[in-house]
This record gives sequence, structure tokens and C-alpha cells, in this order.
Amino acid sequence: MDHLKVKVTGVWILITIFCALSVEGVAYGGHCTTSANCTETDNICGSNNKCNCSSTTFRKNSAECAAKVDLNAVCEGGESADQCEDSLAECRNDSGYKCLCKDNNFEKQTVLCAPQIVLNAVCEVGESADQCVDSLAECRNDSGYKCLCKHNNFENKTGLCTPRIAFNETCDNTDSAADQCSQANMGCLNDGLGIYKCLCYSNYYESSGTCYDRKKPYEACNEGQCVVHATCNVNCTCDMGYEASPIVSPTQCNGGGRETVSLLYLLAMTKVASQMLLSR
Ligand SMILES: *[C@@H]1O[C@H](CO)[C@@H](O)[C@H](O)[C@H]1NC(C)=O
Ligand SMILES: *[C@@H]1O[C@H](CO)[C@@H](O)[C@H](O)[C@H]1NC(C)=O
Ligand SMILES: *[C@@H]1O[C@H](CO)[C@@H](O)[C@H](O)[C@H]1NC(C)=O
Ligand SMILES: *[C@@H]1O[C@H](CO)[C@@H](O)[C@H](O)[C@H]1NC(C)=O
Ligand SMILES: *[C@@H]1O[C@H](CO)[C@@H](O)[C@H](O)[C@H]1NC(C)=O
Ligand SMILES: *[C@@H]1O[C@H](CO)[C@@H](O)[C@H](O)[C@H]1NC(C)=O
Ligand SMILES: *[C@@H]1O[C@H](CO)[C@@H](O)[C@H](O)[C@H]1NC(C)=O
Repeated sequence: MDHLKVKVTGVWILITIFCALSVEGVAYGGHCTTSANCTETDNICGSNNKCNCSSTTFRKNSAECAAKVDLNAVCEGGESADQCEDSLAECRNDSGYKCLCKDNNFEKQTVLCAPQIVLNAVCEVGESADQCVDSLAECRNDSGYKCLCKHNNFENKTGLCTPRIAFNETCDNTDSAADQCSQANMGCLNDGLGIYKCLCYSNYYESSGTCYDRKKPYEACNEGQCVVHATCNVNCTCDMGYEASPIVSPTQCNGGGRETVSLLYLLAMTKVASQMLLSR
């Protein structure tokens, strides 16, 4: 028993001496004045005068300074936040833990994370679709490439992209965006009952949710499709007191020569009546 005790004590003394001689430097977290003081692998003397992991390494398992992980490479969930090489990346689970760009950042083609670009700011052609912060925006050329709302979306008064509004759906008349309705010839108009809806401007008629140019005099029509002061009667016919103008390829019904038109109408009616009599 005593023999063993002496042996253990001897070994202990030897280990202590060995340590004192070989580890003349400073361990991780110990006080240092220069990086040369720090003896553990990849340790440097940090700004707080403590031995710390170098900038390309991170403290892994509270045991060593291990190389930081590349973007998209496997990392360890629960390990320190700075384990990813890219400072704008984080270790996140996406079918397994990987170093992925943090929220509001996107991965550039150069395999670096960069902050996503706000609406109307300059973006880069060929970069990924998620380079724009607004998920309903895209990088498009409009006098230079910018993050702009995707087609069928508009920038609302809060500066966010939102889907354009279809015919007869309620709209926001306090929003000055000219493109909030789904078509160019539609506007956010009072429906006559005080409700603002996307409706066709007066020079257009609606069919299946689309606004079309109103039918001109003599054009084949359906009810409600003719220009103002015209009524559909197989083709668009100017109302009494109005005449198609100009005479060749008319585009509208003018009420300028009211008396003359009325007279012509009377003459025409007389002619029609006499033809009817003749055809009997
Ligand atoms: C090591 O550096 C990191 C990042 O600069 C810092 O957060 C951490 O507190 C430092 N650790 C020590 C032991 O100084
Ligand atoms: C750090 O290194 C310097 C220069 O070699 C030395 O003077 C100093 O005593 C060391 N400090 C520690 C804490 O080991
Ligand atoms: C990681 O994500 C996958 C799906 O991508 C999921 O099935 C799995 O449970 C997640 N693991 C953890 C630890 O959250
Ligand atoms: C970008 O759009 C402008 C007009 O807005 C045009 O002059 C230019 O050629 C376009 N550039 C490309 C690369 O399409
Ligand atoms: C603007 O668009 C965003 C995103 O689509 C939406 O959440 C928000 O309600 C809209 N704001 C207004 C005032 O319509
Ligand atoms: C518009 O919608 C209302 C119900 O909100 C409906 O009564 C009306 O007929 C619709 N108008 C058109 C032109 O579709
Ligand atoms: C327009 O319709 C009337 C019948 O309503 C017809 O007499 C006339 O020939 C038509 N004109 C044209 C140009 O189609």
C-alpha cells in the first residue's frame, strides 16, 4: 500500500514539474501581452489581453480553436454563433445544419453573404432572385437595374410590393400609385355608391375583367360598349341629337349640330318609313 502511495506521489510530482517546464506560455483565456504568449493552436492575444481563437477559427466544444466553416458547409447546431467563416452567415438547420446567410442577406455568386437590397435601389444583373429584400420584388432594368416590384405587383404607399387589384375589387383611393389596378386603363374609382373599386376609365368598357376601348360609331357591339352618346343597336349608333364624327372612320358622337342632326334624323326616319311602305 505504502509502496503504491509513494509511486503515485512520485508520478504526480513528475507531471507537475513537466507541466511547469513545458507550458511556459499561456492557455486559452489566460492573460497575455503578445500572441507569442499563447501556446494553444490557433490562439492569439486578443484585444482584452486574453488568449483567444484567431479570426479564422472559433472555440469548438470549449476545447480547441477549430477552423471556421465555409458558406453552405456543414456546421454544428448549438455551437458558437461565430463558427461560420462569413460574418453574415449563421449555422441554421435546412435539411441539416449548414452555414447559411442570415435573414435579410442573400448569397452572392462569389459565395459571400451580402445585405439584401431595398426597393428601388441598384441591384446586380445575374445575382440570385432573392437579392431584393422585398420577396415580391425582382432585379429589373428600368433605366438601370433596380429592385422593382414584380409584374402584377405595385409599390403601395407603405413602400412595399403588393399584388395589383383586379377589376371590381376594392382599392385604396388614398394611395397615389397609378398602377394599383391590374390594368393600365383601370383606375381606383368611386363606384357611385361611395366605394372605391378598380373600374374602367370612362373611355373603356369592361368584359371578363378586362377594360377595352369603347366601340366607335358603326362598330359591331354589345350593350354598354359604345362611346358616350351612342347606343348599341347591332352596331354603335349615335343617340338622337348626336352625329358620328369625323364622317369618315368616326370615333365619337358629337352633339354640336343638334338642330341639323335632329332634322337629318327626321329626314332619315321619313326615308325609312317610305322604304317600308315601298317594300310592301
Ligand atoms: C474571443 O473573441 C471573441 C470575438 O472577438 C469574443 O467574443 C470572446 O469574448 C473572446 N474570448 C476571450 C476568452 O477573450
Ligand atoms: C508574454 O511574452 C512577453 C515577451 O516574451 C513576456 O515578457 C511576458 O512575460 C509574457 N507574459 C506572460 C503572461 O507569459
Ligand atoms: C432540421 O430540418 C429538417 C427539415 O429540413 C427537419 O426534418 C429536422 O427535424 C430538423 N432538425 C432539427 C434538429 O431541428
Ligand atoms: C436598360 O433599359 C434602358 C432604358 O430604360 C435601355 O436603354 C438599356 O438598353 C437597357 N439595358 C439593358 C442591358 O437591357
Ligand atoms: C402594403 O403592402 C404590404 C405587403 O404586401 C401589406 O402588408 C400592407 O398592408 C400594404 N399597406 C397598405 C397601406 O396597403
Ligand atoms: C361588382 O361587384 C359587385 C359586388 O361587389 C356586383 O354586385 C357587381 O355586379 C359587380 N360589377 C361588375 C361590373 O362586375
Ligand atoms: C349598323 O346597324 C344598322 C342597323 O341597326 C344597319 O342598318 C347599318 O348598315 C349598320 N352599319 C354598319 C356600318 O354596319
